[in-house]
Amino acid sequence: MKRLNSKSLRNSLKESANGAKYESQGQVRSEAEHVAPGSKKPRASRPEGPKYTYSALSGLRHIFLILTQGRRPDKVGTCPWLSYSAPLALFVLLIGSGFFVESKPVPAAPAGTAVLKDVFKNDFMIGAALNRRQIFEEDTSGVAIVRTHFNSITPENVLKWALVHPEPGRYDFAAPDRFVEFGEKHGMFVVGHTLVWHNQTPRWVFQDEKGNPVGREVLLNRLREHIFTVVGRYKGRIKGWDVVNEALNQDGTMRESPWFKIIGDDYLVKAFQFAHEADPNAELYYNDYDLELPAKRAGGVELIKKLKAAGVPISGVGLQNHNQMDWPSVADEDATITAFEKLGVKIHITELDVDVLPRTTRPGADYAVDVTVTPQLNPYADRLPDAQQLALAKRYAELFQVYLKHRDAIERVTFWGVADGDSWLNNWPMKGRTNYPLLFDRLGRPKPALAAVIAVNVKPQTGTRGTND
Ligand code: GLA
Repeated sequence: MKRLNSKSLRNSLKESANGAKYESQGQVRSEAEHVAPGSKKPRASRPEGPKYTYSALSGLRHIFLILTQGRRPDKVGTCPWLSYSAPLALFVLLIGSGFFVESKPVPAAPAGTAVLKDVFKNDFMIGAALNRRQIFEEDTSGVAIVRTHFNSITPENVLKWALVHPEPGRYDFAAPDRFVEFGEKHGMFVVGHTLVWHNQTPRWVFQDEKGNPVGREVLLNRLREHIFTVVGRYKGRIKGWDVVNEALNQDGTMRESPWFKIIGDDYLVKAFQFAHEADPNAELYYNDYDLELPAKRAGGVELIKKLKAAGVPISGVGLQNHNQMDWPSVADEDATITAFEKLGVKIHITELDVDVLPRTTRPGADYAVDVTVTPQLNPYADRLPDAQQLALAKRYAELFQVYLKHRDAIERVTFWGVADGDSWLNNWPMKGRTNYPLLFDRLGRPKPALAAVIAVNVKPQTGTRGTND
């Protein structure tokens, strides 16, 4: 089995970390463009080696070349002992063309490896949030993982107001169009994120030309126009929308966002109604984080009840699930899903990740992005030690056990990113750390956590074949 030496691994880690920083600069709010920066939320083996592609086709191609040219193709070069060896080729055909190996590293699932979306196909969809490089198919490694393992996609940033509607009257649909096409091309359930939020929304939305706050009617008109334009453009194609994001404080009261202050607490009712008018068949969700905190959960339950009582066509609740290693507990997650399930709305796990790095405060407090990163705050700069890798796998397994228990209510489990280098958690709650919150490492290789998640729903099989490393 070929192993990466530690230098090349370090270099790759560095490159990925830089890539992550670049991406998340688009995602972390810039003061000039966005409002309410201070109100950011609290947050929250398979041995490593080369991956191979296998296919019956590649096997047949090998046989063809052996029979006609006496050589194996590509990187292997001419092999004298294979020359004109039809009998050998026939023997190889007999033992199965699926075993042929091309020495081209590709971070997809090797033959015989279970595929996430298939493992859970009778339970819920498995989604991933895509960044720009994935949407434009520049990140070929990430795209290969998405196509292999996921059957739903959410845009990490490109449909947020600041990006899709940066100035009055100017929309930028280049990336969202590609995003939706990508999902349709691969038969995926396409989610829109997000229509109404206090973050990543330009200041002009709430102000007149002189910079003074606009009144309720002006803001409602802007909201209607935005929702009709964006939802209307993808009518029938984006199947579900995070209509309102993060309307609650940690104690379950309403967040005093500009939406709330200017329109009043019926801004949610209005947003859902506009979205429903723009696409009557789209599923509509309320999406928030830390609903596992009892007070916030109670506030969320009340909010959904009120929306339903007002006749709002809400189909689901998004539990973001930006988790830590020790929070929320399995019992909290279970209780939270149960509480919303009882209201008759579907559950979507919308932004799943697990932060393995130390926090300086407990959930519920605000964090500053500009904290100096000390080695204590960034303990796994080079690699995640085996013990933590396994602890992460165990953590993911326990979360998926809860999700599976609620498989009747849960429609989708979406990860917030594809591979570790993509994650916003490399730059939050402070910039420039090396985090490991997802199921694929910085080189796109499956982590033990992937195997652990799969094992939650797959009985161990005996007599499997086709491992080649
Ligand atoms: C929130 C938002 C997401 C994303 C994450 C992390 O959860 O809903 O769009 O911005 O924060 O950055």
